[in-house]
Amino acid sequence: MALPETPDFESYPVHQRLVSAAVERGGVRLHWADGGHCLYHPLTLREHAPDPETTHPVTREQSLMLIDIPAGLEAASADVDGEGALQVRWSTGEDSRFHPGWLRAHAPDLMGVPEEDRDPLPARVTWAGGFANQIPRLHGPDVVAGGPAREAWAEALQVWGVAILEGLDATPEVVETVPALLGPIRETNFGKFFDVISKPDADSNAYTSMALPLHVDLATRESMPGLQFLHCMSNEADGGDSILSDGFYLAECLRAEEPELFEALTTVQVTAASKAKSTDYRWTTPIIGTDETGAVSEIRWNPWLRAPMKASFDDVDKVYRGLRFLFELSERPESRVVTRLGAGDMLSFDNRRVLHGRTGYDPSTGERRLRGCYVDREHLTSSLRIAERRKRAALV
Ligand SMILES: [Fe+2]
Repeated sequence: MALPETPDFESYPVHQRLVSAAVERGGVRLHWADGGHCLYHPLTLREHAPDPETTHPVTREQSLMLIDIPAGLEAASADVDGEGALQVRWSTGEDSRFHPGWLRAHAPDLMGVPEEDRDPLPARVTWAGGFANQIPRLHGPDVVAGGPAREAWAEALQVWGVAILEGLDATPEVVETVPALLGPIRETNFGKFFDVISKPDADSNAYTSMALPLHVDLATRESMPGLQFLHCMSNEADGGDSILSDGFYLAECLRAEEPELFEALTTVQVTAASKAKSTDYRWTTPIIGTDETGAVSEIRWNPWLRAPMKASFDDVDKVYRGLRFLFELSERPESRVVTRLGAGDMLSFDNRRVLHGRTGYDPSTGERRLRGCYVDREHLTSSLRIAERRKRAALV
């Protein structure tokens, strides 16, 4: 008898043998050969059983709804069969069988072994000093062709949050096709694509020639655009260098040196509000976002769209002190990268992590024209997981 299917399209190489299964509190206690153990809730197992009545055989989404499972369902018996799979008999008399690799990958509150990383994304690495010389630079035409260069681009965006594609054509269509290799372009009220040029009636500081302090784009939105692309078509003016800083590095420095201020920036509600004449976007949330593990997951850093804060005096004071810490840190040479885009270069970066800005420029000395767009980060992480899935499938 082969191992059972799994309720998804993943592959699960069995790294650890399932050695025992026992009913406990109506659920199932599992032990693996390396000492790892966990207690599965009966409903977690029941609703993810891979049989075709529970899991749709084509979509592999759940077809048995929770409401159709008896409320008091319990495991009546649990055993590891000769193939190493888990065999459960339910209190209803039904049987389910589970793949041991799937059980380990989804083990709830796994104990007895070091914590395991459940999400196969490449780990982020914050920038250290001297990162200017290490910014991943890839040959744009190779990335367009696909294969390893495309994968390297995606991985660089996940790990470092930034990559520069070089050697692309300096034409307006490029930004309409290359970012779309990662996922659908996200349209905003500035359009699907935006031209960063100096305009006489600018509706954003970006469309002037003034220096732009480090910032993220669209902190006024419920979900900030994940990836930003700036394709350089000309950069002939005096000035106009690009400035980048790893916002996650800044946030981790704050956490280490001023934990009370880090706490304030991760909990106090702050509103970012657009100040355009014909739109009124605003969003209220802490400036630093953290994920379920406590890791920094986004930084909403826009120095010129912050609305007056409504929190208590003490909280407002801490937020301002935390922001000043971050601002001063970001001004230090070791915290920032200054680079100059040339015609045909495309700067790509994680807009929810990497702060970007520019030095001022003199439009009378030459043309400076960037063309940009956004793609949400979830398309990048999806494609990275699929790449990892292919690698795991080769191991089974
Ligand atoms: Fe910007």
